[in-house]
Amino acid sequence: MYQLKDKRILLGVTGGIAAYKAAVLLRLLRQQGADVRVVMTKNATEFVTPLTFQALSNKPVHTDLLDVEAETAMGHIELARWADLILIAPASANFIARYANGFAEDLLSTLCLAADSDVVIAPAMNQKMWLHEATQANIDKLKDRSVIILGPVEGDQACGEIGPGRLLEPEGLVAEVSRLFQTDVLAGSRIMITAGPTRELIDPVRFISNRSSGRMGYAIANAAIEAGADVTVISGPVSISSPDRAGIKTVVSANEMHKEVMKSINNIDIFIATAAVADYRLTNISEQKIKKSSDILELSLTKNPDILAEVAALNNAPFTVGFAAETENLEENAQEKLKLKNLDMIAANRVGGDIGFDSDNNALTIFWKNGRQELQKASKEKLARKLIHLVADRYNEKNTNQTH
Ligand code: PMT
Repeated sequence: MYQLKDKRILLGVTGGIAAYKAAVLLRLLRQQGADVRVVMTKNATEFVTPLTFQALSNKPVHTDLLDVEAETAMGHIELARWADLILIAPASANFIARYANGFAEDLLSTLCLAADSDVVIAPAMNQKMWLHEATQANIDKLKDRSVIILGPVEGDQACGEIGPGRLLEPEGLVAEVSRLFQTDVLAGSRIMITAGPTRELIDPVRFISNRSSGRMGYAIANAAIEAGADVTVISGPVSISSPDRAGIKTVVSANEMHKEVMKSINNIDIFIATAAVADYRLTNISEQKIKKSSDILELSLTKNPDILAEVAALNNAPFTVGFAAETENLEENAQEKLKLKNLDMIAANRVGGDIGFDSDNNALTIFWKNGRQELQKASKEKLARKLIHLVADRYNEKNTNQTH
């Protein structure tokens, strides 16, 4: 169940006897590599103490909407944005009713309303409460809003009755949740992604480069793997760990990146250029360390090959996605690059502040011919999954049009 590695899961625990099982669930999620934060309702704290979850998650447990200290550490909107997925287990009849009807009087229901990630609920309650038409109507409402309902299952209940209403066992919940991250929308396709910066040597100890960390490109590689693709990453020098199941080629300069890309591009279906490739290199690299002498040192630079433009211009070009890092005129510049380089899609990336280069978060506007989509500020992992879905839609549409 590798799909949960580094996934950010917000585990919501509501009041009910099954709350103790959430502790086992938390351990299992963490064993699968997930990063878990726990939010408890007031009723849940009557069954299990926040300290239990704090010890198991190694993170503070959130309980109050109006807790100044918790809000300073990570505000509730930030927490909703942080999560790749919200899992509420156990979800009581009371919580289900509040969420179905849009109440936001406590932290957990507020987070559910503020979230843009999938919300999964695992109900647990007495069988009569589960079968009651009010609960069933609330469940239908949630299903209509694409909330994912896991369980409940039939069996012996804590109250002594037998029937539907038991929480799905923690092992089953973990298996279902990991399946949600596996999409297969790009099954069988071969994807090449450039990532990170390039370095252009000045002399044996100095180089020209930029602040790209490789995080955006590596997150896209992971999302493409989850979508079933066969992924190759051509990466500049970075200090983050490589995506587990991608083929990785490391390079230093733009020329090396160009060479590696062109070597294998003929076997590629989709090319995504996330790398911040240096536009220029030194015309002559000094063989010796340059000595400090005159007040002004002039360096002569020569243009590097434009890898993205060259790939898009191939006779049998793959579906080609560019990035445009911009500090001004975002849309205008991105649209121009989309047309000039004849790309299928471009991700416009406003860089600066706390997003873009060397940051955990980003915000993108994706453009393609006659279409656009805003991807609001979120973690690079979350954005990468959304981008991969957009790429899959357009790529499959293009393939269908070409075969008709
Ligand atoms: O690595 P991170 O810290 O996570 O940061 C991510 C990022 C900000 C680097 C990334 O999201 C991003 O915006 N990448 C593109 C950066 C860039 O160089 O943009 P550009 O507008 O200069 O280039 C346009 C496109 O042409 C890019 O797809 C680039 O990869 C490609 N290009 C540019 C020059 C060149 N010689 N060859 C290229 O292929």
